[in-house]
Amino acid sequence: MSLFVIDQEKCLRCGTCAEVCPVKAIAVQEDSVPVPTAWAEQGCINCGHCVAVCPQGVFSLKRMPVSLCPPIEKELIPNEKQLGQFLRSRRSIRAYENKAVERGLIESVINIACYAPSGMNAQPVHWKVIYESSEVVRLKDMVIEWMRCFVKEKHALAKAFNFKRMLTACEAGMDIILRDAPHVIIAHAPKGDPIAQSACTIALTYLELAAKSFSLGTCWAGYLDAGLAYWTPLQHALELPEGHISYGSMMIGYPKYRYHRLPLRNKAKITWR
Ligand SMILES: Cc1cc2nc3c(=O)[nH]c(=O)nc-3n(C[C@H](O)[C@H](O)[C@H](O)COP(=O)(O)O)c2cc1C
Repeated sequence: MSLFVIDQEKCLRCGTCAEVCPVKAIAVQEDSVPVPTAWAEQGCINCGHCVAVCPQGVFSLKRMPVSLCPPIEKELIPNEKQLGQFLRSRRSIRAYENKAVERGLIESVINIACYAPSGMNAQPVHWKVIYESSEVVRLKDMVIEWMRCFVKEKHALAKAFNFKRMLTACEAGMDIILRDAPHVIIAHAPKGDPIAQSACTIALTYLELAAKSFSLGTCWAGYLDAGLAYWTPLQHALELPEGHISYGSMMIGYPKYRYHRLPLRNKAKITWR
């Protein structure tokens, strides 16, 4: 099968598929439907723009038949007021209900996050869900262990982030590391993959927003991330596949409280030229 198939009868020959193709894998011909360019097979990044943009719905990629690509339901697209409110009302959640989130719900959220953009559409992100709360507590305890070690070593990071104060809070029974969240989600990918860091960060950002739409709360787990960057025992505890590292992590659970107002944020720092 060729890289793509077009219904000859229904194709309008509008050339939109060729115009939006990021790697110019599609050539428009005067007397026939678009055809693959010489580098199409190697160049195609399977982004599906050709399939998604075809006004007739008659373009299929070898690995992406149009029949599997649902039409966009226009009435479901939020307007600027709705989206503005949604984005501005997202909050980092630091108080969770003592209740597990159904695995299916977590999967639904992750499946939306899979639509996050990634360089060359490489989609390098893998997900590890630390589902068992005992495992979340184990990770939190390991972060505390790492902080204690850095305080003892007088590491610059311990001073910069006031680990001593954090440890005092932890010793008083407050979980300021993972906020007693029931679950933690890790985005991981091969170490050294130049696309992985941005892909994982953007995917986690999608995840955070998607979670809100399911009435779930999230918070970036920055201390866990820092511990993972510096503390080998913590990296081992994650049991990621060989050669993978964590590029970011997020707490997730049902929020205990509702927020009623939008807080203020700094004015945008914009320059024009
Ligand atoms: C990369 C990153 C790491 C973060 N790490 C933590 C963290 O470890 N603990 C925490 O309580 N909040 C963490 N946050 C949340 C920020 O504190 C929060 O985004 C900020 O205070 C603004 O609040 P908002 O997210 O509700 O708008 C982190 C946020 C980011 C983007």
